[in-house]
Amino acid sequence: MLAKSRTLITNVLLPALILAAVTAIVLPRYAARASNDDASLLTPDEMEMAKSLTLASLPSLSPDPSNRFAENAAAAELGRELFFDTRLSANAQIACATCHQPGAQFQDGLPLAEGIDRNFRRTMPIAGTQWGAWFFWDGRKDSQWSQALGPLENPIEHGLTRADVVKRVVTHHGEAYEKVFGELPDVRGWPNNASPVIAGKPLENWQAAAQTVRDAIDRAFANIGKAIAAFERTLMPEENRFDRFVAARLSDSQPSPEAELDNDELAGFRLFVGKAGCNHCHSGPRLTDDFFHNTGVPFSPDVQGVDWGRAAVVEWLANDEFSCLGPHSDAPADTCRELRFMSKDQAVFEGAFKTPTLRGVAERPPYMHAGQFATLEEVVDHYDEAPDPFSGLPDINGQIVPHGRHNETIPLGLDVREKARLVAFLKTL
Ligand code: HEC
Ligand code: HEC
Repeated sequence: MLAKSRTLITNVLLPALILAAVTAIVLPRYAARASNDDASLLTPDEMEMAKSLTLASLPSLSPDPSNRFAENAAAAELGRELFFDTRLSANAQIACATCHQPGAQFQDGLPLAEGIDRNFRRTMPIAGTQWGAWFFWDGRKDSQWSQALGPLENPIEHGLTRADVVKRVVTHHGEAYEKVFGELPDVRGWPNNASPVIAGKPLENWQAAAQTVRDAIDRAFANIGKAIAAFERTLMPEENRFDRFVAARLSDSQPSPEAELDNDELAGFRLFVGKAGCNHCHSGPRLTDDFFHNTGVPFSPDVQGVDWGRAAVVEWLANDEFSCLGPHSDAPADTCRELRFMSKDQAVFEGAFKTPTLRGVAERPPYMHAGQFATLEEVVDHYDEAPDPFSGLPDINGQIVPHGRHNETIPLGLDVREKARLVAFLKTL
């Protein structure tokens, strides 16, 4: 009898009590959240992983020792003016903001950028790049200020020369420049149309100028980059629906229905950090590892030749006069760790491009370094198939060498529903 009642207690009453308690305590909490079933509950591990992808995990911004004006408000204001000024271009129609449009996540929605001429790569979004280490799709610049100098004297972008950029800034922004950097350069006697990086007349004019003049041009040119970088440091990544969802789950507050994720979006998140392994590269609060990978993206039919990505610039970077180790950097050499310890292994970086952020990705097609894919569905199909367009090509030095697989990703074996779920998750970002 005693044994029997004990069985009754353990087998029937106790489970019933536990069930009642669970129903009373747990269910109302989640029932109120959404019509989701249990799939909406994240395990502690999943919660940790989810949090790592949100703005709550963004570390405070470290200083840029190579730019002593990085936090200077007057420099940022000057930088903002320069960013929007079309006078800093050969045809007076191109500003940074022509391609990096504030209303469109600081990009332009084109497969290939259009400046003075058509570019061979797609415009990149800018917000949040102040946390990055390398700039451009191939990372050929190691600071925001040094990056900003490139387009100004690129014949297919702003199309000016170094001397002319500085002269125009002195003419149109002299007062603001002086307020930040002190004395204005005395441009009387400076050559027009002079640049060390543009072959032909600009290079001849540059070489004909006195060393003191060239140094003064370079110094002012670097300052212009530093002001633009100070402005770019104020462009923050925007909060997305996934941030709000995770924040609400972590607090006990009632999430707004808009912040809730549905079951497909949640399943997509699980694929992203699980079976599909997207977070191996798209990790952290900006959803990028700030590194370079070959992901087998096909060559663009609108671009001639092979774009070798990172492999083509690793040697060049060491000689960039505007790098962290160059004469215009404000950093002590021992703080330039990224540059000093970077890998220069060309074979590793053939066809490797910088992992882009996925924040706001659904609102800015097309995708990849030359806009090769029009939709997120095409992107996910691509990862599912994992082709290797570099297979069988001679290497970057024209050698035919036996190669392993270039594409770092492997076929995923996703079914139609899983692909749709991954896309659903990407849209929450
Ligand atoms: C004609 C369009 C165009 C103009 C004008 C332009 N850019 Fe860009 N921007 C691009 C393209 C294309 C890329 C990628 C180029 C590459 O990888 O070779 C890029 C890359 C960048 C990046 C790198 C982002 C990252 O994640 O690495 C930054 C920052 C940037 N541009 C800032 C600027 C600034 C500042 C100016 C003005 C001085 C400017 N851009 C002018 C098209 C443009
Ligand atoms: C091995 C590292 C790596 C993995 C794994 C990876 N990505 Fe990427 N992702 C990249 C790189 C690098 C690019 C840019 C490639 C290029 O332009 O050539 C990219 C580009 C993208 C883009 C285009 C973004 C833009 O602005 O153009 C999307 C979307 C994307 N990845 C989603 C995913 C998804 C979803 C997964 C998982 C199925 C995934 N990635 C897995 C490295 C990776």
